[in-house]
Amino acid sequence: MLLKDKRLVITGVLTDDSIAWHTARIAQEQGAELVLTGFGRGMSLTKRVASRLPVEPDVLELDINDPAHMDALVADLTSRWGAVDGALHAIAFAPEDALGGNFLNTPPESAATAFMTSAFSYKTLAVGLLPLMQKAGGGALVTLDFDNSQAWPAYDWMGVAKSALQSVTRYLARDLGPHGIRVNAVSAGPLATVAAKNIPGFSAFERVWGERAPLGWDVGDPSPVAMMNCVLLSDWAPMTSGEVVHVDGGFHAVAAGPGTDGE
Ligand SMILES: NC(=O)c1ccc[n+]([C@@H]2O[C@H](COP(=O)([O-])OP(=O)(O)OC[C@H]3O[C@@H](n4cnc5c(N)ncnc54)[C@H](O)[C@@H]3O)[C@@H](O)[C@H]2O)c1
Repeated sequence: MLLKDKRLVITGVLTDDSIAWHTARIAQEQGAELVLTGFGRGMSLTKRVASRLPVEPDVLELDINDPAHMDALVADLTSRWGAVDGALHAIAFAPEDALGGNFLNTPPESAATAFMTSAFSYKTLAVGLLPLMQKAGGGALVTLDFDNSQAWPAYDWMGVAKSALQSVTRYLARDLGPHGIRVNAVSAGPLATVAAKNIPGFSAFERVWGERAPLGWDVGDPSPVAMMNCVLLSDWAPMTSGEVVHVDGGFHAVAAGPGTDGE
């Protein structure tokens, strides 16, 4: 089994559509022991969907911007396991006025919130878990990107935050590599989760993926992304760090779909 006996922290489970929920499911099927974290008013939802996993894991509270929550999480993990082998960072948030085509008028506070919660937070999680991952002799961190190397409709300051997240991934890889910790990002195609449905015009993403992805793409199936998360959390990517792995049906590699001949 890919993740036998790995002790993993999975953030970002909100519903059983969440990319993190599917990652948790596959990780358990592959032998991992898990703790989930939930956030704010979503905690009760997280607890409910945790019970639908193959083995019901404990759910701890983590607002990634609240240092007291991070301290409490680390204290719990220290007494529970004494060491941590890896974590999934599946956290993103942008205020309404930072999305939806309001790019030119977004107030700086809203852009800063998007950055703090969606990009800087990878650093927060990594530094919080560092002593526990050192105790494990190293490990792996994975975050979730949406490729922003070109501008999208509506994605706005969330897109800017994702570009920052890619950069945070590389700097964390630089600084945590000497501790035996690999730091990567998975750049996912569009998936119909709560976070995605909060992006106005999400259907446009679905349409272009349908036209362009050489392998095709199903916005209702997070499993391919979850499987790659598990690979990167496992021992099967031992020399991969600072990388952004696309799981998008090959979309990023082609500039246009097959088109219709003669038209
Ligand atoms: N759905 C997509 O199309 C898509 C594509 C590429 C990348 N992603 C990324 O995948 C990740 C997971 O999103 P998802 O699509 O599974 O949606 P989701 O809504 O299920 O998950 C988003 C999670 O972020 C958490 N969160 C928000 N603010 C937080 C805070 N302050 N502290 C802790 N947690 C907080 C929420 O509680 C929720 O669990 C996000 O980073 C998202 O940007 C999603």
